[in-house]
Amino acid sequence: MKRKKVAVIFGGRSGEHVVSLKSAQAIMENIDRERYQVIPVGISREGIWLTGERVWSLLREQGDLRGVPRAVMLTDPRRPGLLVEREGSSAAWDFQPLDLIFPVLHGPFGEDGTVQGLFELSGLPYVGSGVLSSAAAMDKVVMKILFQQDDLPVGPYLYFDRRQWQERPDRLAERIFSEAGLPCFVKPANLGSSIGISKVKRAGELEPAVEEALHYDDKVIVEAALPGKEIECAVLGNLDPQSSRTGEIIACNEFYDYRAKYLDERSELIYPAELPSVLEKRVQELARRAFAAVEASGLARVDFFVDPESGTIFVNEINTMPGFTSISMYPKLWEVSGIGYRELVGRLLELAEERFARQSARLTAPPE
Ligand SMILES: Nc1ncnc2c1ncn2[C@@H]1O[C@H](COP(=O)(O)OP(=O)(O)O)[C@@H](O)[C@H]1O
Ligand SMILES: [Mg+2]
Repeated sequence: MKRKKVAVIFGGRSGEHVVSLKSAQAIMENIDRERYQVIPVGISREGIWLTGERVWSLLREQGDLRGVPRAVMLTDPRRPGLLVEREGSSAAWDFQPLDLIFPVLHGPFGEDGTVQGLFELSGLPYVGSGVLSSAAAMDKVVMKILFQQDDLPVGPYLYFDRRQWQERPDRLAERIFSEAGLPCFVKPANLGSSIGISKVKRAGELEPAVEEALHYDDKVIVEAALPGKEIECAVLGNLDPQSSRTGEIIACNEFYDYRAKYLDERSELIYPAELPSVLEKRVQELARRAFAAVEASGLARVDFFVDPESGTIFVNEINTMPGFTSISMYPKLWEVSGIGYRELVGRLLELAEERFARQSARLTAPPE
């Protein structure tokens, strides 16, 4: 049987560049080489697309990228694939056909619908959610509105844009204190990795927190601090997805900030989480519903706050391209649910093809 050619795309212009490299390494090591041939595609921090056997290690070592062949994704559905610069010559390009794409990109430009739009134009199946779903899940406000629409439990929040803040900061501050209260979390609407997020405990901390969030986005969301453990649940599938066992995050800092996520090894992941089984079942059901609410495909990790004492559950967010390193929560949750890393990677590629086949069968124009 002919092996299918899978482009594994990693790196990228987001704060999660390094995590993406680690996730991609584990994925490339675990793709079944009897069925698939891997074409590595690395995106530099500047956004340049590169390919070849050396690209992963050069990005990892932040080495000299000159001379590494550039790659361009074609947007010709009759010839799905890449144009690859011939080594040693920037004037000649070769066609590299592809059958599938596994984008292992987190955050802006990778998980927000932008690159998914390119894949749609390329005419190739790709792992994960589509344009609308990726973009909606990246925007914490749109995501919450979709959750509320489907009666999912969301904590109190409000949002505003740069102009509203500049015009009436006093009035917004008043609304924040009465609707979200203190402490509260101030976040840029579109980002990830806890970048730009502050926990505000005293009134005087609000203004600098909003200014910080406005460095990253024109839209800011403020949420009431929610009680309970941070519980995560993995979802896998397309129209009829499954949820995994749940896991718990124990942050070493005041909250799960950038440091606690990536730099400080004292943060702990516990899987399966120690939760009464009724609560775990409820979280699993809510995770599937959150997945459906944003119309996700393939995979997502849904994050919750669960208070075992009172039994309250809030959905915090959904991540459409969760961390995928060998020790990340998403694959670990499937491992404790009976699906190992290799099998998971295989299932994701099959789900990408299943969704693509369904979409391709859809009419795009009225019948003649
Ligand atoms: N409303 C909240 N109540 C309590 N903790 C929160 C709240 N919002 C965020 N946090 C803390 O901040 C972390 C990052 O926030 P999150 O909304 O998950 O942003 P990101 O998309 O960057 O992961 C969470 O993992 C949690 O530790
Ligand atoms: Mg989060």
